Amino acid sequence: MHMSKKFKRTLITSALPYANGPVHIGHLAGVYVPADIYARYLRLKGEEVLFIGGSDEHGIPITIKARKEGVTPQDIVDRYHGLIKKSFAEFGITFDIYSRTTSDIHRETASDFFRTLYDKGEFREQESEQYYDEEAGQFLADRYITGTCPHCGNENAYGDQCEQCGTSLSPNDLINPKSTLSGSAPVMRTTKHWYLPLDKHEAWLREWILEDHKEWKTNVYGQCKSWLDLGLQPRAVSRDLDWGVPVPVEGAEGKVLYVWFDAPIGYISNTKELLPNDWERWWKEEETKLVHFIGKDNIVFHCIVFPAMLKAEGSYILPENVPANEFLNLEGDKISTSRNWAVWLHEYLEEFPGKQDVLRYVLTANAPETKDNDFTWKDFQARNNNELVAVLGNFVNRALVLTQKYFDNKVPAPGELTQYDRDTIAEAKLIKQAVEQQLENYHFREAQKEAMNLARIGNKYLADTEPWKTAKTDMERTATILNIALQITANLAIVIEPFLPFTAEKLLSFLRSGHLSWNQLGDFNLLPAGHLLEKPHLLFEKIEDEVVEKQIQKLHDTKIANEASEQKAKPIKGTVQFDAFEKLDIRVGTVLECEKVPKADKLLRFLLDDGLQKRTILSGIAAYYPNPQELVGRQVCFVANLEPRKMRGILSEGMILSAEDVDGSLALVTPTKTVNPGSPVV
Ligand code: MF3
Ligand code: ZN
Repeated sequence: MHMSKKFKRTLITSALPYANGPVHIGHLAGVYVPADIYARYLRLKGEEVLFIGGSDEHGIPITIKARKEGVTPQDIVDRYHGLIKKSFAEFGITFDIYSRTTSDIHRETASDFFRTLYDKGEFREQESEQYYDEEAGQFLADRYITGTCPHCGNENAYGDQCEQCGTSLSPNDLINPKSTLSGSAPVMRTTKHWYLPLDKHEAWLREWILEDHKEWKTNVYGQCKSWLDLGLQPRAVSRDLDWGVPVPVEGAEGKVLYVWFDAPIGYISNTKELLPNDWERWWKEEETKLVHFIGKDNIVFHCIVFPAMLKAEGSYILPENVPANEFLNLEGDKISTSRNWAVWLHEYLEEFPGKQDVLRYVLTANAPETKDNDFTWKDFQARNNNELVAVLGNFVNRALVLTQKYFDNKVPAPGELTQYDRDTIAEAKLIKQAVEQQLENYHFREAQKEAMNLARIGNKYLADTEPWKTAKTDMERTATILNIALQITANLAIVIEPFLPFTAEKLLSFLRSGHLSWNQLGDFNLLPAGHLLEKPHLLFEKIEDEVVEKQIQKLHDTKIANEASEQKAKPIKGTVQFDAFEKLDIRVGTVLECEKVPKADKLLRFLLDDGLQKRTILSGIAAYYPNPQELVGRQVCFVANLEPRKMRGILSEGMILSAEDVDGSLALVTPTKTVNPGSPVV
């Protein structure tokens, strides 16, 4: 919906990422780039905007990671909060504040919020039976319980999900449940929790979403409708855990607020931290338009649970829109932090320094707005080379280089306009409204396409008018053409700013222009005649095949490593009698010589001291030992009584033993201490 008169300011929130790992392209594409485009656009229009971000630092994933590493949860969040904040800043995400949910002000705000609802009688108190670890002395979150999956027999299923068959479980479903804290079998114990009675809120939520917000994106509206149609259940908003905001009521020792209760309150706490005396205007006045940018897994919390909390409190506004995105996949597979299947922002910045806008552009061009989408390095390269370089960069460069060549880098004064000039200008002026309309409907992909159309118009204009030809006969005509091309360039600096802020800044510096505002878009007198420009530089550069192939290779290596680590060992061969084993004479030998066999890629020739004499053995492990001389002096194990065999004209007297890894690579087997050559392996 268009900004109606009712709103005076926009409060933009973006989901608080869990501080249990760095951020990747999926985060950027799904939430932070669209939110930033929206914030920049509104600011450029001169509207009052606040853009809130921060890290979500509570919850089970963080305690699990801390336990795995043997550090405290605070250590984990300190590490990742800093890294995440830096990555966002480097990508030009213009948060007005990026804070965290372990701040004092947040703990206090979340605690007070709970207390208000508690005092108003907005919770139901209820006892239930939960698994408890008697050795560790604590209740167990679902993720802390493992056992056998009743569906597929996987012995390592979690209390909330079996990762082998994908079924979602509850801890009671597990056969032989075990606590991951102590390994002991948990027992059932009664515990008390506070529940937000969503059933009580269902009627107004139905009306508010299904009737009053039909304009929400279909993926968001659809998910809400199916939740509402299923009927809402009370939700526990406390947990038995020692990491989080303590439940502020008597008799709640050892209990904290559920992470999904405290995290969205983080939006409020961060606003308060930024504007201690002015935050209420942003959260409590009907003139504020509240917009939550999130990924699809967060829809129920932002469209149903958090609004119910805000309504129950009574003094807050509700979101006007929740433009949630679907997911971005990477080269055909789901992005996964634990499987390292991601393009991490901090790594991208190291490998593609200065190319923030290229990634921003590609992620928006391919944004998962209506369905899951796929990021591929080939597409990244193609969009850079065929769009940023060939369309935007090429147009700007031609306009500037020709001005330098024919007019000494000064904006030429236009002469009389032809009908074609006027048509081009009219077409260019339409871009403003087209981009606005898309942005105000949260269609960022289409909006960026419209913005790029301005560069396309410019390219077509230069191709049709051919100023390099008119320059031979008609300088006045050439001046008009280049004036128009330069005015288009200045317009581009405005229209691309929300999408490609680093490029917009460069463009302004090429034009030696100060800040331009959105309202100036469509103006063809942005650069006065005689205005001196900078010497032109390239805006974008081609990305070569080797560069993306290196990235594809890196992902391929990750895949191989993942497959290897997931693979089980080969089944054991059939039983043999002891005397069959005893017939084999396995011994240790010391390597005297080791070298590649000429013209045989795979073979190494070993000369061993076997304690009695010198013996030659060939072994097919050359690929895994590129510097075979380094093996001289090392000890290996070999089968001493294997029938000798001629290979490549060399007699091989036995077989050297190697371990074969899951990926087929080989490693020599060697005693852990030096022994006498010829020592039998028994
Ligand atoms: N940490 C959550 C996630 O990454 C998002 C929290 S959004 C908030 O999925 F509203 F709770 F802050
Ligand atoms: Zn299963």
